[in-house]
Amino acid sequence: MRTPDAKATAISRQYAAWPYPQVPLLANVDPTHPWQLHCDSLWDRCGSGPAPARPRIWIAGCGTFQPYVFSIANPRADIVATDLSEPSLRIARRRCALHGVRNVSFAPCDLQDESTWPQGEFDLIECYGVLMNLSDPERALAALARRLAPHGVLRLMVYPQFSRTRVFQLQRIARLCGFHGDDASHPSKFRSLVKSLTKDHPLRFAFTTYADSKNDAGVVDAYLHAGDRGFTGWQLGALLQSAGLRPANWMHRPWAQPDVAQERLALMGRAQSTVLGYLDLWQELRQNFVVCCTRRDAAPVVDDASTALRAHPSFHGRASSLRHALRLWRLRTFGGRVPTRTGDGDVVLCARDARLLASGTGLDADDAALLRATGLVLGTAGEPTAISTHLEIEGHDAWLASAQSLRIGRLAPNPLYLHLFAALDAARSWPQLGLPHLDDQLRAWLPWATPLEHERIRFGLTPYATAQRRQAAMRDHLEREPLPTAASYDEVRLRDDASKLQSARAFATAHDAPAQLTDAAARELWCLAFGQADLFLTMLSA
Ligand SMILES: C[S@@+](CC[C@H](N)C(=O)[O-])C[C@H]1O[C@@H](n2cnc3c(N)ncnc32)[C@H](O)[C@@H]1O
Repeated sequence: MRTPDAKATAISRQYAAWPYPQVPLLANVDPTHPWQLHCDSLWDRCGSGPAPARPRIWIAGCGTFQPYVFSIANPRADIVATDLSEPSLRIARRRCALHGVRNVSFAPCDLQDESTWPQGEFDLIECYGVLMNLSDPERALAALARRLAPHGVLRLMVYPQFSRTRVFQLQRIARLCGFHGDDASHPSKFRSLVKSLTKDHPLRFAFTTYADSKNDAGVVDAYLHAGDRGFTGWQLGALLQSAGLRPANWMHRPWAQPDVAQERLALMGRAQSTVLGYLDLWQELRQNFVVCCTRRDAAPVVDDASTALRAHPSFHGRASSLRHALRLWRLRTFGGRVPTRTGDGDVVLCARDARLLASGTGLDADDAALLRATGLVLGTAGEPTAISTHLEIEGHDAWLASAQSLRIGRLAPNPLYLHLFAALDAARSWPQLGLPHLDDQLRAWLPWATPLEHERIRFGLTPYATAQRRQAAMRDHLEREPLPTAASYDEVRLRDDASKLQSARAFATAHDAPAQLTDAAARELWCLAFGQADLFLTMLSA
């Protein structure tokens, strides 16, 4: 058995104290709501053909809620739910028992230690929001991929680096102030600290609009985390590649599908990881990276069984419970809405469509085409995208480090907004991307960008909106030579440095922050908590 490293120990302690997510035990999931998590549906979307009638599913890092959701979606599967956190497993087990779910078994397991893993191969492996906790995600993912059945599907969620910048900046504030998950009073102290920021503060905006901020376990998971991370599109592409996985279906809103975005943004010829990395840079991904993968060595499935049209099992045939039967009856009698998990809006089913799905017969070509687009009729045999999945970009890590570094100058980019500058600066500092001039990029974005606006903020919260509102300033900035950088806040001084350090320390004390702030920490805290009004700051070298 492997000895956990310091990060693993801290993360294990965190999820033992704060099982996640914090959802009431009696919260119900409607039996037709998680239909997109049905193994047959995921196999179909990935081009793997029909899944086995009794698939083996492994939820690796299941938390407190997913076992119940997956058992509702897959009532005829054998599900193994594992997690590092035994308290999370206890809650998940109790929840399943309370809801009469019997097809899930539970076991503790460390994804960084294969000797603790469940035995055998799986038709579906779910690894949602877990990989970014691991010290060596490459190794864990490659080992997970080896546990996939030949046409099995692995669904993965990881955080996007740039779209999650504000959450990472809030984490930084918490760390500077000394807030952490080992103290039960810290989530509420941190919450009141963030809520004391001015109403136009982008970090307050991010905090209040994030669903996880509502309860303490969510606050710990998002902002007081013991060590998570984000992935750029390129890092994710490289990760999948090195694990021998092929991204077969991005569970993203239509706009964040690589082929759609590639065409709209005139990024033809770029790999999927580049297009998604670019969307993330511009904060237009609007969600986490969620991808369903198959093994790269799996032979294509081309037999008739995989192309024959059939109704989605959650809407066809025998209901799995009385509640399910009632829900299907209601749909077949009155029609109704079926929610999607891909930001696609609800699927609206008329009663006739629901009856067609129920009988599974009499689907004529038009019906089938219409319903197939919704995913409620299976038999796609997968239509693999023509876009290459990943192209290694040399110098990526150096670019990322430089994009996140402090700049020195009288008009230096405000460190609170470094991510906006990174996006705008990408074409200049990263020619390998082959991005057009900023003006042409903006023209391409014009019909599509939906900037995260906040009317009290003088410039936009997305690179697009910032460039639109501050065109002259941004152009002037981009035309200057890249500014010198500083390695830390020790090496810079702000204008009126001493009084800013004092304000930051007073702020931390007022919120009962346990940390004694060094000058560098106080300076950084000032930038994050009080520097929101200006896009450029004076950063003098020390
Ligand atoms: C953000 S939660 C996600 C939970 C669940 N997948 C969901 O989406 O609701 C991360 C989960 O990963 C688990 N975890 C963290 N490190 C792990 C490891 N090394 N091995 C197994 N599970 C781990 C945590 O205990 C926690 O339950």
